[in-house]
Amino acid sequence: MQVRASAPGKAILFGEHAVVYGKPAIAMAINKRACVDVLESSTNNINVNIRDLGIKGSINFDNGTIMSDSPKKGILKYIRESIKKVHDGSGMEINIDVNIPIGGGLGSSAAVAVATIAAVSAYNKIDLKEEEIAKYAHEVELKVQKSASPLDTTISTYGGLIYLESNAEDIVQLDIDYDIPVVIGYTDTRGDTGKLVEAVKIRRDIYSDIIDPLIDSIELITEEAKEAILNDDKKRIGELMNINHGLLDALGVNTKELSGMVYTARNAGACGSKITGAGGGGSIIAYCPNGTGKVISAITETESALKADISKEGVKITNLY
Ligand code: MEV
Repeated sequence: MQVRASAPGKAILFGEHAVVYGKPAIAMAINKRACVDVLESSTNNINVNIRDLGIKGSINFDNGTIMSDSPKKGILKYIRESIKKVHDGSGMEINIDVNIPIGGGLGSSAAVAVATIAAVSAYNKIDLKEEEIAKYAHEVELKVQKSASPLDTTISTYGGLIYLESNAEDIVQLDIDYDIPVVIGYTDTRGDTGKLVEAVKIRRDIYSDIIDPLIDSIELITEEAKEAILNDDKKRIGELMNINHGLLDALGVNTKELSGMVYTARNAGACGSKITGAGGGGSIIAYCPNGTGKVISAITETESALKADISKEGVKITNLY
Protein backbone atom coordinates (compact mmCIF):
# COMPACT_ATOMS: atom_id res chain seq x y z
CA MET A 1 0.00 0.00 0.00
CA GLN A 2 1.21 3.51 -0.75
CA VAL A 3 -0.47 6.79 0.06
CA ARG A 4 0.60 10.23 -1.15
CA ALA A 5 -0.47 13.59 0.22
CA SER A 6 0.66 17.05 -0.76
CA ALA A 7 0.04 20.50 0.68
CA PRO A 8 1.00 23.98 -0.49
CA GLY A 9 3.30 26.56 1.02
CA LYS A 10 2.04 30.07 1.57
CA ALA A 11 2.94 33.70 1.27
CA ILE A 12 1.53 36.23 3.70
CA LEU A 13 0.33 39.40 2.02
CA PHE A 14 -0.59 41.27 5.22
CA GLY A 15 -0.59 40.81 8.97
CA GLU A 16 2.31 38.49 9.92
CA HIS A 17 3.42 38.76 13.56
CA ALA A 18 0.27 40.76 14.43
CA VAL A 19 -1.65 37.52 13.82
CA VAL A 20 0.14 36.01 16.83
CA TYR A 21 -1.71 38.61 18.97
CA GLY A 22 -5.15 37.71 17.63
CA LYS A 23 -5.14 40.16 14.71
CA PRO A 24 -6.37 39.28 11.20
CA ALA A 25 -4.09 38.34 8.30
CA ILE A 26 -4.30 37.81 4.55
CA ALA A 27 -2.31 35.04 2.90
CA MET A 28 -2.28 33.01 -0.27
CA ALA A 29 -1.40 29.37 -0.83
CA ILE A 30 1.31 29.20 -3.48
CA ASN A 31 1.95 26.72 -6.26
CA LYS A 32 4.87 25.06 -4.44
CA ARG A 33 3.84 21.87 -2.63
CA ALA A 34 5.38 19.57 -0.03
CA CYS A 35 4.76 15.96 -1.06
CA VAL A 36 4.73 13.00 1.38
CA ASP A 37 4.62 9.31 0.38
CA VAL A 38 3.91 6.64 3.01
CA LEU A 39 4.80 3.03 2.21
CA GLU A 40 4.81 -0.23 4.11
CA SER A 41 7.99 -1.18 5.90
CA SER A 42 9.41 -4.65 6.37
CA THR A 43 10.67 -3.58 9.81
CA ASN A 44 9.16 -1.85 12.84
CA ASN A 45 11.11 1.33 12.16
CA ILE A 46 9.76 4.60 10.88
CA ASN A 47 12.31 5.68 8.30
CA VAL A 48 12.11 9.16 6.85
CA ASN A 49 13.88 10.24 3.69
CA ILE A 50 13.57 13.92 2.76
CA ARG A 51 14.87 13.49 -0.73
CA ASP A 52 15.29 17.05 -1.96
CA LEU A 53 17.09 18.12 1.22
CA GLY A 54 19.23 15.01 1.51
CA ILE A 55 18.03 14.35 5.08
CA LYS A 56 17.54 10.78 6.30
CA GLY A 57 16.41 9.77 9.75
CA SER A 58 14.73 7.12 11.80
CA ILE A 59 12.14 7.73 14.52
CA ASN A 60 11.84 5.49 17.55
CA PHE A 61 8.30 5.73 18.86
CA ASP A 62 9.06 3.86 22.10
CA ASN A 63 11.24 6.67 23.43
CA GLY A 64 10.52 9.44 20.89
CA THR A 65 14.13 9.75 19.76
CA ILE A 66 15.14 10.81 16.27
CA MET A 67 18.27 9.23 14.87
CA SER A 68 19.91 11.18 12.06
CA ASP A 69 23.39 12.28 11.06
CA SER A 70 22.08 15.30 9.20
CA PRO A 71 23.00 18.73 10.59
CA LYS A 72 19.60 19.97 9.32
CA LYS A 73 17.54 17.33 11.11
CA GLY A 74 15.30 19.89 12.91
CA ILE A 75 12.56 19.33 10.35
CA LEU A 76 12.29 15.71 11.52
CA LYS A 77 10.71 16.98 14.75
CA TYR A 78 7.73 18.27 12.76
CA ILE A 79 7.45 14.90 11.09
CA ARG A 80 7.64 12.96 14.38
CA GLU A 81 4.96 15.13 16.01
CA SER A 82 2.74 14.90 12.91
CA ILE A 83 2.99 11.11 12.82
CA LYS A 84 2.21 10.91 16.56
CA LYS A 85 -1.18 12.52 15.93
CA VAL A 86 -2.43 9.72 13.68
CA HIS A 87 -0.28 6.63 14.10
CA ASP A 88 0.34 3.83 16.58
CA GLY A 89 4.07 3.70 15.93
CA SER A 90 4.38 0.58 13.77
CA GLY A 91 6.84 0.57 10.87
CA MET A 92 6.54 2.83 7.82
CA GLU A 93 8.74 4.23 5.09
CA ILE A 94 8.14 7.93 4.55
CA ASN A 95 9.55 9.75 1.53
CA ILE A 96 9.24 13.51 1.38
CA ASP A 97 9.99 16.23 -1.15
CA VAL A 98 9.59 19.63 0.47
CA ASN A 99 9.89 21.69 -2.74
CA ILE A 100 9.55 24.93 -0.73
CA PRO A 101 12.58 26.94 0.47
CA ILE A 102 13.06 26.01 4.16
CA GLY A 103 13.05 28.83 6.70
CA GLY A 104 12.08 31.15 3.89
CA GLY A 105 8.84 32.36 5.49
CA LEU A 106 6.94 30.32 2.92
CA GLY A 107 5.28 27.91 5.32
CA SER A 108 7.45 24.88 4.53
CA SER A 109 7.13 23.38 8.03
CA ALA A 110 3.35 23.83 8.01
CA ALA A 111 3.08 22.25 4.55
CA VAL A 112 5.20 19.29 5.69
CA ALA A 113 3.07 18.87 8.84
CA VAL A 114 -0.23 19.09 6.92
CA ALA A 115 0.90 16.67 4.20
CA THR A 116 2.40 14.22 6.72
CA ILE A 117 -0.76 14.16 8.87
CA ALA A 118 -2.91 13.72 5.76
CA ALA A 119 -0.73 10.93 4.31
CA VAL A 120 -0.23 8.97 7.53
CA SER A 121 -3.90 9.23 8.54
CA ALA A 122 -5.01 8.02 5.09
CA TYR A 123 -2.46 5.19 5.31
CA ASN A 124 -4.03 4.19 8.64
CA LYS A 125 -7.55 4.56 7.19
CA ILE A 126 -8.37 7.40 9.58
CA ASP A 127 -10.77 9.74 7.84
CA LEU A 128 -9.89 13.27 8.92
CA LYS A 129 -11.86 16.37 7.99
CA GLU A 130 -9.87 19.33 6.72
CA GLU A 131 -10.50 21.21 9.96
CA GLU A 132 -9.01 18.31 11.93
CA ILE A 133 -5.91 18.22 9.72
CA ALA A 134 -5.50 21.99 10.18
CA LYS A 135 -5.97 21.71 13.95
CA TYR A 136 -3.49 18.84 14.37
CA ALA A 137 -0.92 20.55 12.17
CA HIS A 138 -1.23 23.74 14.20
CA GLU A 139 -0.69 21.72 17.39
CA VAL A 140 2.45 20.25 15.80
CA GLU A 141 3.80 23.74 15.06
CA LEU A 142 3.01 24.85 18.61
CA LYS A 143 4.78 21.83 20.07
CA VAL A 144 7.91 22.25 17.95
CA GLN A 145 8.13 26.05 17.74
CA LYS A 146 6.52 26.88 21.10
CA SER A 147 4.50 29.73 19.58
CA ALA A 148 2.71 29.82 16.24
CA SER A 149 -0.56 31.18 14.97
CA PRO A 150 -2.84 28.85 12.97
CA LEU A 151 -2.19 30.91 9.84
CA ASP A 152 0.34 28.75 7.99
CA THR A 153 -1.38 25.45 8.71
CA THR A 154 -4.82 26.88 7.80
CA ILE A 155 -3.64 28.19 4.43
CA SER A 156 -1.78 24.99 3.66
CA THR A 157 -4.87 22.90 4.45
CA TYR A 158 -7.52 24.92 2.60
CA GLY A 159 -5.52 26.61 -0.17
CA GLY A 160 -6.69 29.76 -1.98
CA LEU A 161 -6.51 33.39 -0.92
CA ILE A 162 -7.63 33.65 2.67
CA TYR A 163 -8.56 36.39 5.11
CA LEU A 164 -8.04 34.93 8.55
CA GLU A 165 -10.38 36.69 10.98
CA SER A 166 -9.22 38.11 14.33
CA ASN A 167 -8.31 35.31 16.75
CA ALA A 168 -8.57 32.90 13.81
CA GLU A 169 -12.30 32.68 14.56
CA ASP A 170 -13.17 32.20 10.95
CA ILE A 171 -11.50 31.94 7.59
CA VAL A 172 -12.90 33.83 4.65
CA GLN A 173 -11.92 32.71 1.15
CA LEU A 174 -11.46 35.86 -0.92
CA ASP A 175 -12.93 34.71 -4.21
CA ILE A 176 -11.48 37.00 -6.82
CA ASP A 177 -11.46 36.40 -10.55
CA TYR A 178 -8.23 38.27 -11.27
CA ASP A 179 -4.60 37.43 -10.50
CA ILE A 180 -2.51 38.88 -7.72
CA PRO A 181 0.86 38.76 -9.51
CA VAL A 182 3.57 38.48 -6.89
CA VAL A 183 7.27 37.79 -6.83
CA ILE A 184 8.88 36.16 -3.82
CA GLY A 185 12.51 37.12 -3.23
CA TYR A 186 14.44 34.95 -0.82
CA THR A 187 17.88 34.86 0.72
CA ASP A 188 20.09 31.97 1.79
CA THR A 189 19.85 33.23 5.35
CA ARG A 190 17.20 31.30 7.22
CA GLY A 191 14.79 32.91 9.65
CA ASP A 192 13.82 30.90 12.74
CA THR A 193 10.09 31.56 13.13
CA GLY A 194 9.96 30.48 16.78
CA LYS A 195 12.86 32.75 17.77
CA LEU A 196 11.52 35.71 15.77
CA VAL A 197 8.05 35.43 17.29
CA GLU A 198 9.73 35.31 20.72
CA ALA A 199 11.90 38.35 19.90
CA VAL A 200 8.81 40.39 18.97
CA LYS A 201 7.13 39.25 22.19
CA ILE A 202 10.10 40.43 24.26
CA ARG A 203 10.16 43.79 22.46
CA ARG A 204 6.43 44.13 23.10
CA ASP A 205 6.85 43.25 26.80
CA ILE A 206 9.54 45.91 27.20
CA TYR A 207 7.93 48.65 25.07
CA SER A 208 4.27 47.68 25.22
CA ASP A 209 2.98 51.29 24.92
CA ILE A 210 4.96 51.68 21.72
CA ILE A 211 4.61 48.23 20.17
CA ASP A 212 0.89 47.69 20.85
CA PRO A 213 -0.16 50.59 18.59
CA LEU A 214 2.08 49.20 15.83
CA ILE A 215 0.29 45.86 16.07
CA ASP A 216 -3.08 47.68 16.07
CA SER A 217 -1.93 49.59 13.01
CA ILE A 218 -1.07 46.36 11.19
CA GLU A 219 -4.62 45.21 11.97
CA LEU A 220 -6.02 48.35 10.31
CA ILE A 221 -3.76 47.83 7.30
CA THR A 222 -4.97 44.24 6.91
CA GLU A 223 -8.63 45.26 7.12
CA GLU A 224 -8.14 48.02 4.57
CA ALA A 225 -6.11 45.68 2.35
CA LYS A 226 -9.00 43.20 2.29
CA GLU A 227 -11.23 45.89 0.75
CA ALA A 228 -8.45 46.97 -1.63
CA ILE A 229 -7.96 43.38 -2.82
CA LEU A 230 -11.69 42.82 -3.30
CA ASN A 231 -11.84 46.04 -5.34
CA ASP A 232 -8.63 45.23 -7.25
CA ASP A 233 -7.34 48.63 -6.13
CA LYS A 234 -3.71 48.10 -7.14
CA LYS A 235 -2.33 51.42 -5.94
CA ARG A 236 -3.80 51.00 -2.47
CA ILE A 237 -2.67 47.35 -2.19
CA GLY A 238 0.91 48.45 -2.98
CA GLU A 239 0.90 51.40 -0.59
CA LEU A 240 -0.51 49.30 2.23
CA MET A 241 2.23 46.71 1.67
CA ASN A 242 4.89 49.40 1.93
CA ILE A 243 3.43 50.72 5.19
CA ASN A 244 3.17 47.17 6.56
CA HIS A 245 6.84 46.66 5.72
CA GLY A 246 7.84 49.74 7.73
CA LEU A 247 5.98 48.41 10.75
CA LEU A 248 7.60 44.98 10.47
CA ASP A 249 10.94 46.78 10.42
CA ALA A 250 9.92 48.55 13.63
CA LEU A 251 9.01 45.20 15.20
CA GLY A 252 12.64 44.19 14.65
CA VAL A 253 12.33 41.42 12.07
CA ASN A 254 13.98 43.16 9.11
CA THR A 255 17.50 42.47 7.85
CA LYS A 256 19.84 44.26 5.48
CA GLU A 257 19.26 41.61 2.79
CA LEU A 258 15.47 41.76 3.12
CA SER A 259 15.54 45.56 3.01
CA GLY A 260 17.76 45.40 -0.07
CA MET A 261 15.29 43.15 -1.90
CA VAL A 262 12.29 45.26 -0.81
CA TYR A 263 13.79 48.41 -2.35
CA THR A 264 15.21 46.61 -5.38
CA ALA A 265 11.69 45.35 -6.14
CA ARG A 266 10.14 48.81 -5.79
CA ASN A 267 12.83 50.37 -7.99
CA ALA A 268 12.20 47.69 -10.62
CA GLY A 269 8.52 48.62 -10.83
CA ALA A 270 6.75 46.71 -8.06
CA CYS A 271 3.67 48.56 -6.79
CA GLY A 272 4.53 47.53 -3.24
CA SER A 273 6.86 45.18 -1.39
CA LYS A 274 7.40 43.91 2.12
CA ILE A 275 8.82 41.14 4.24
CA THR A 276 6.63 38.06 4.07
CA GLY A 277 6.50 35.59 6.94
CA ALA A 278 8.59 35.77 10.06
CA GLY A 279 11.51 37.82 8.65
CA GLY A 280 15.04 37.67 10.10
CA GLY A 281 16.24 36.22 6.80
CA GLY A 282 13.73 34.41 4.65
CA SER A 283 11.63 36.21 2.08
CA ILE A 284 10.03 39.34 0.74
CA ILE A 285 6.91 39.62 -1.37
CA ALA A 286 6.57 42.15 -4.18
CA TYR A 287 3.23 43.01 -5.74
CA CYS A 288 3.80 43.39 -9.48
CA PRO A 289 0.60 44.11 -11.46
CA ASN A 290 2.73 45.83 -14.12
CA GLY A 291 4.72 42.66 -14.79
CA THR A 292 6.99 40.38 -12.78
CA GLY A 293 9.92 39.96 -15.21
CA LYS A 294 11.92 43.09 -14.36
CA VAL A 295 11.46 42.55 -10.63
CA ILE A 296 12.67 38.94 -10.84
CA SER A 297 15.70 39.99 -12.91
CA ALA A 298 16.59 42.78 -10.49
CA ILE A 299 16.34 40.59 -7.37
CA THR A 300 18.23 37.67 -8.91
CA GLU A 301 21.27 39.89 -9.49
CA THR A 302 22.08 39.27 -5.83
CA GLU A 303 19.49 36.87 -4.34
CA SER A 304 16.89 34.32 -5.51
CA ALA A 305 13.36 34.98 -6.73
CA LEU A 306 10.32 33.13 -7.99
CA LYS A 307 6.94 34.10 -9.37
CA ALA A 308 4.21 32.73 -7.13
CA ASP A 309 0.66 32.04 -8.22
CA ILE A 310 -2.29 31.38 -5.94
CA SER A 311 -2.88 27.65 -5.47
CA LYS A 312 -6.62 27.08 -5.18
CA GLU A 313 -5.91 23.53 -4.06
CA GLY A 314 -5.11 22.90 -0.40
CA VAL A 315 -4.21 19.49 1.02
CA LYS A 316 -4.67 16.62 -1.41
CA ILE A 317 -4.56 12.86 -0.74
CA THR A 318 -3.98 10.20 -3.39
CA ASN A 319 -4.08 6.44 -2.77
CA LEU A 320 -1.47 5.14 -5.15
CA TYR A 321 -2.26 1.44 -4.67
C1 MEV B 1 5.09 33.06 10.00
O1 MEV B 1 4.86 32.59 8.69
C2 MEV B 1 4.05 34.04 10.40
C3 MEV B 1 4.19 34.61 11.80
O2 MEV B 1 3.09 35.50 11.97
C4 MEV B 1 4.17 33.55 12.84
C5 MEV B 1 2.85 32.86 12.92
O3 MEV B 1 1.83 33.39 12.49
O4 MEV B 1 2.83 31.75 13.50
C6 MEV B 1 5.46 35.41 11.96
